[in-house]
Amino acid sequence: MLTILVINSKGGSGKTTLTTNLAGYYASKKIKTALMDYDPQGSSMQWLKMRPGHAEKIHGANAAPPKGATIQRSAQAWIPVDTDVLIVDAPAGTKGLLLQELVRRTNFIVIPVAPSPIDIHATADFVKELFLYGGARTSKAKIAVVANRVRSASSVYASLERFLNSLKLPFLTSIRDSEIYLQAVEKGLGVFEMDEAVTAAERRELLPILNWVEGHYLASEKRLAAFPSQENLLLPKSFGSRLEDKVISLETFSSTGKFKKLS
Ligand SMILES: Nc1ncnc2c1ncn2[C@@H]1O[C@H](COP(=O)(O)OP(=O)(O)OP(=O)(O)O)[C@@H](O)[C@H]1O
Ligand SMILES: [Mg+2]
Repeated sequence: MLTILVINSKGGSGKTTLTTNLAGYYASKKIKTALMDYDPQGSSMQWLKMRPGHAEKIHGANAAPPKGATIQRSAQAWIPVDTDVLIVDAPAGTKGLLLQELVRRTNFIVIPVAPSPIDIHATADFVKELFLYGGARTSKAKIAVVANRVRSASSVYASLERFLNSLKLPFLTSIRDSEIYLQAVEKGLGVFEMDEAVTAAERRELLPILNWVEGHYLASEKRLAAFPSQENLLLPKSFGSRLEDKVISLETFSSTGKFKKLS
């Protein structure tokens, strides 16, 4: 199973927005998708409840500790064995053992960050925590950051860009502040499940994340094909071929000058 963890200890950075839109994308491609919500606020679970009957099914797993408990997970924290892609929505303030557990279990980590000085500062602390105590240094998980709720090429955005580049982590995309994401939440859908003409800009913004995951996935599949091993069993076999039709090359995006070339 391929797991994408969406995390930033800073509240309101866009974790749930990214989680639901990534899950909506994979589900719309008929990939068996599950969403695991570690947040006691249960925003992702709420979104799932609002999904219309015609939308592709996404399995929801509530991994938040039951009220009053601090350690044990809810009894609903399970996912079907045939899940191909799992998207994990982390709560604000994640640190310590939970952070280590989440990092250990994932293939990809996406960190959304909003362009405000407070968010930038908090994210810098979170990235430090992730590498010093979260196990990211020794983990095989690929880590990238995305800017979220970007309004314009403001001076705050320039300092966010400087900050992201200083992290030496791939900076995948800038997601604008858009009413469409709010409409998507209300409908229980992701932007890839809504009218293509209306959501074209939002889809374009999210695609670099999907391309990044897909690129690393295909590379690891090639490696595994050359050296077959037990690891082969961890990845959904037909995952790549089902996505190929929609994947836009990274060059397309970097050539716009908006996105940094990935390492
Ligand atoms: N790009 C965007 N455009 C417009 N609204 C957005 C965007 N990203 C997030 N929002 C809105 O901002 C609020 C916070 O976003 P979200 O819930 O995704 O953050 P979060 O990191 O999951 O928050 P928390 O830490 O509380 O779990 C929500 O109301 C969401 O709809
Ligand atoms: Mg959230």
